[in-house]
Formats: sequence, C-alpha cells, structure tokens
Amino acid sequence: MDKAKAKQEAERLREEINRHNRLYYVEARPVISDFEFDRLLERLVGIEREFPDLATPDSPSQRVGGEITREFPPVIHREPMLSLANTYSVEEVADFCRRVEKLVEAEGGKAPEFVAELKFDGVAVSLLYRDGILVRGSTRGDGTRGDDITVNLRTIPTVPLSIVMPGGPLFGSAGSEIEVRGEVFMRKEDFGKLNEDRPEEDRFANPRNATAGTLKLQDSSEVARRKMSFVAYFLKGLEDEAMPQLRRLQQLESMGFMTGRNYRLCRGVEEISGFIGEWSEKRWALPYETDGVVLKLNDVSLWDRLGATAKSPRWAIAYKYAAQQARTVLRDVVFQVGRLGTITPVAELVPVRLAGSTVSRSTLHNFDEIDRLGVRIGDHVTIEKSGEVIPKVVAVVLDERPPGTVAIDVPEVCPACGASLVRPEGEVSFYCPDESGCPAQKRGRILHFASRNAMDIQNLGESLVAQLVDRGMIDDPGDLYRLTGEQLESLERMGAKSAGNLLEALAESRKRGYERLLYALGIRHVGRATARELAQACPSLERLRETGEEELAAVPDIGPVIARSIREYFARPWVNDMIARLAEAGLPLQAEAPKSLVNRNFEGLSVIFTGGLERYDRQAASELVLERGGRVVTSVSKKTGLVVAGSDAGSKLDKARKLGVRVIGEDEFEAML
Ligand code: IVH
Repeated sequence: MDKAKAKQEAERLREEINRHNRLYYVEARPVISDFEFDRLLERLVGIEREFPDLATPDSPSQRVGGEITREFPPVIHREPMLSLANTYSVEEVADFCRRVEKLVEAEGGKAPEFVAELKFDGVAVSLLYRDGILVRGSTRGDGTRGDDITVNLRTIPTVPLSIVMPGGPLFGSAGSEIEVRGEVFMRKEDFGKLNEDRPEEDRFANPRNATAGTLKLQDSSEVARRKMSFVAYFLKGLEDEAMPQLRRLQQLESMGFMTGRNYRLCRGVEEISGFIGEWSEKRWALPYETDGVVLKLNDVSLWDRLGATAKSPRWAIAYKYAAQQARTVLRDVVFQVGRLGTITPVAELVPVRLAGSTVSRSTLHNFDEIDRLGVRIGDHVTIEKSGEVIPKVVAVVLDERPPGTVAIDVPEVCPACGASLVRPEGEVSFYCPDESGCPAQKRGRILHFASRNAMDIQNLGESLVAQLVDRGMIDDPGDLYRLTGEQLESLERMGAKSAGNLLEALAESRKRGYERLLYALGIRHVGRATARELAQACPSLERLRETGEEELAAVPDIGPVIARSIREYFARPWVNDMIARLAEAGLPLQAEAPKSLVNRNFEGLSVIFTGGLERYDRQAASELVLERGGRVVTSVSKKTGLVVAGSDAGSKLDKARKLGVRVIGEDEFEAML
C-alpha cells in the first residue's frame, strides 16, 4: 500500500472503529461481532506500524496500550478536585436543600432546582481536552495534586480520545481547553472475570479496589485487558459558562461520553427523596455498583457564589445507601486449609435472606478479625453484603448474647494433617507448615492446576481429587500424568468409560502452553497476568528458575514481593521433583519457538492475491506464503514480486500487467508451494 492510500484507509478505519465503539459502549446496540471489531483494530494497528507518522493521538489504536510507565508524573489540578459531604439520612438531605434555598434567596434567585445523579462507586479522574483531543488524564490524588495516568486512561473504551463537537466548535478559538471529570469503574461482570483470573490470595475485595489497583499499573496493555469504564459527571471550559448542570450532562452525551442517563431534575425534597427511594431497589439491577445519589444545584452560575468548605462544595451533597444487613446466629466455625496452607475460619450460619439470596456461610477472614469482633459460637450476629462482595459478619449483638456461647480458639494443629500451625511474623494468618505432606494443600494445588484457566482438565473435580490424594495415588500435579486406566477404574464411581475420558483430558491438557502452565503451578501471587509477564521475560522454566530476585523484581508489575515468592517456590525440593515429572510427561516447560519455515520457495517475494481461488480461501493462501518466506501485500507496485490471479481478477491484474509484474494462476501457485 502506498502512503496516500494508507492514510485514507487509516482514516476510514478510525472512523468506523469509533462508530462501533460508540454503538457498543454508549448506545449499547452493537452491530458487529467482537471478532470483526478486533479485525478492524488489527488492520489499523498494522497500517500505523508500517507508517508510524500516520498514527494520531486520538487513534483508537492507542487503546491497546503497550507503554510501560515507571513513575507517573505529578499533575497540579487547575482547580482542586473536591470531594462531597456525605450523609446516610434523608433528613440531612432536606437540611441541605433548605440551606441552599436560603443562600439562593439571599442572592435574589428563585426556588432552586437540583439534579439528582447516581453516585458511581469507582475512582475519580480528570480528563483534559485541548482543541478536542485528549491530552492529559489524571487521578484526584490529594485533591490538589494527582498523578498523570494518561497512558492508562487511554485504554478505556468509554474515555473518548477526541470529542465530537455537535454544531461546530464549542470552545472558542484554537488552544481552548475543556475539562471533564468523572469516575472510572469496573462493571460487575468484568470485575467477576478479573477476580476469577487472580490467585485466591490476591483477589480484590470489590470493583472499586480493583479499579484503583488497575489504574496504578505500569504496563498499560494489562490495563487494557482489564476492562474498565468511565462515566462523566462534570464539564468545564464551555463558552457558555452558565449552562446548567442538566444541560451539561446532555452535552457530555452528545460529545460521546457515557453518563449512565439515570439522572433527573428535582424540585424540592419530596422529588429528591422519591428518586432516592426508587434507586434504593433499582440499583441492584444495574450492571455496575452505585452506593448512593449525588445532588447538585442545577444553576451552575451560583456554584462559585455558594463556594466551598475546606473539603466540599456547598452546592452539592452525596446521599449514601446503608449497606444491606441481616441478623442471624453463628452456629459453628470451621477451618479451611487453602492450597498455600492458609487457615481460614469460616462461619456457619443459620440460613437467612439477604439482598436477594440465602446466606448460610461467610468468611471470618482470620483470627484478628474474630478478636476484633469479639464473636463466640452461639452469638447473634449482623451480616452485611455490600454490592457484589461475599457477605461478612460485621458485628455481634452483645445485648442478646445467650448463655453458653463458646469461644473460638485458634486451632493448634492443622485440621487436615495435624501439623502444628505457624504464624509468620507480620502476617495475620496462620499456616499449616507441612507443604509437601498436608493432604488439604495437595488437593488444593491439584485442583488449581486442573482449573479452567489453568490446564483445564475436564472431569477432574473435587471428589475425584480427594480420592486420588487420600489413597496415596497422587501427591502433586506431576503425578497426574502417570495415572493408568487400571488405577482409575479402581476408584469409586469410576467406570472404564470415565477413566478413559479422564486420561484423554489429561493428554489434551499437555497442549495448553507454557504461559498456562506457569499459572497452573500456583506460585503464590502469580495470577494469569503475572504469568503472562513472566513468560515473556523468561521464556523457559529453566530461565525462570535461574533468574535472580532483583532481575525478576525489575519486570513491569512484578516487584519485590512476587520476585521473592518465585525464588522461594523454586527453592523447594518437592517443587523440583514435581517439575522433573512434568517434564517427563511432556508438558511445555518453555514458550513455543516461532514457527519455522516449511520451505523458502517464496523467500523475498511480495505476493498479491486477486480474484477468487478455487481451492484456498485468502487467509489460508496467505499463510502458505508466509510459511514459505514470502510477504502478502494488497496493492500492486513495481516492487510487487508476484500476482496470483484467480477467476474474475480485476484492476490489480491489469495494473500488474502494465507494470510487468509476473502473474501466475492457481495451478502454478500450487506447484510453487
Ligand atoms: S460530583 C465537587 N457526581 O463521589 C464535586 N461525584 O464522595 C465533584 N462520585 O469524589 C464530584 N458519582 O469520586 C460527583 N455523579 C457524581 C458522582 C461523584 C461518584 C464520586 C467522586 C467524588 C466522590 C465524593
């Protein structure tokens, strides 16, 4: 493709991609599949790679990330990013309204109107657009000074890289700036998927924590993978400085921002409390979390005049919904042993309904938490569910403590193997120290190894793993591949057919690849994303084993804690035995080498396909050329080496003939292969 063509094509692709982005994210009515969308984006990235000066700062290709940032530069906010005064009581919201009414009256205005918006539970950021192009995005920080996280914010599909300006420029002359503030958040579904991919010990407690953690990542391509969203609620820099808040929200939408569209203009306390009441139920059905309602004076021209206290403006307030709670009785506490030996106390509760489901178990996290709550077996307890999180015990109802409650003692020994428990200095958890002998740890490691995102071994479920371990047939994942049909058939509820299926699934799992294996090993703190980084930095297990702690810590997003954990892992004798057995079983202990060439019959040739081939589709034919050292291009020039012309070949064939480029048909192509 020549450069002029490339430029045209890039522009066309950008426009199309932006249109699909908008249809998908803002209007929620996609018209093409994710696959087709990715193809468009890949094509654009390909063109920009070939002609780097064609890339623009607002190209959707910027969203795939790739840049590594060691330290985010500081940003001083032009205007401090204030937070809001919070309240849990509608009475206090009424007080707020009366206060504003008085102030507005004193200014000579009439009865004020308020915009009621949902309060999004995420991380506040500020976006700066110069001449319509996103030039900077930053965190709130301490309100005065934040971090420049533009590279990470660019990866968020609902952060417009440039803004559409309906009816021409809105912001006056060149060099004009507008600022948009809003919340970055994670949809419940995206949060669930992210956590599923993380090692148990590193799961995020809620979508907000996950968002905050992700925005700080150094590797922007990992940020791009973790699907976050942006909702806008504040717009500044318009020529029409008096535009009311309601109109600003609509303006933001026509510029391409998502607002959620669940705001409403309210006159007076009654309408406001109606809105609050309505959303206290409806919010559960939203695809994202909201923890309350924000009320803002609609008349923006009064904002400055009302001013702010040290921390929050006087023209707005946040009403927060209290977390959903229920009362029940703590029947018993059991101790679970995780795959890393962590002992987790789990509360067994008298079943009770809470926020749409029945709850009968809840984690007590650790023994510090039990101390802090002062809870005993038999106590009446309050449990709470905030958003998506698993319910937790938040308080004991001491007034109602029945006689005969029993203290929850730290067990001295592991409930699974009887080893004396240890508590490493500075940690809140107790551990079973018998890593290689404890059956609960063995089971946990094997189940993790077999799980869907790891080696995905179908049919290897909990009860089967328990039988295999308890009968001493396997100790770790390395033993799985030595199991025989005969051994399997000796187990309960296992016929020849199921045994055969499992052996097949095991054979199949050998093909999963090095990156998946790294994750499957279950090294502490090594989740899927970390495994991906590690696989790139150290393309074989041998290399990883030999790489020093410092060198590992220097890999983006790995850091000292993970580096230490990796070093400790490989220092264990049982680990090395297991790896030897995995190697013996033919598992991929290194990354796949780039495909080697089938032959060199097309070496140095740029090849064009035109017209329809009978025996190959375009994609397959192109791959055959690549595997034989050639390149596939799409427009004819003097440099083109070969044109493969099928039926109905058109203008490209004519042009090739004119330029004297060699033309062959399908039979000759096949012979050349
Ligand atoms: S307005 C000066 N509107 O809540 C006021 N904030 O507790 C600027 N938030 O820092 C904020 N949804 O992170 C506003 N619709 C909304 C919001 C919202 C969520 C967050 C924001 C703010 C915090 C205050």
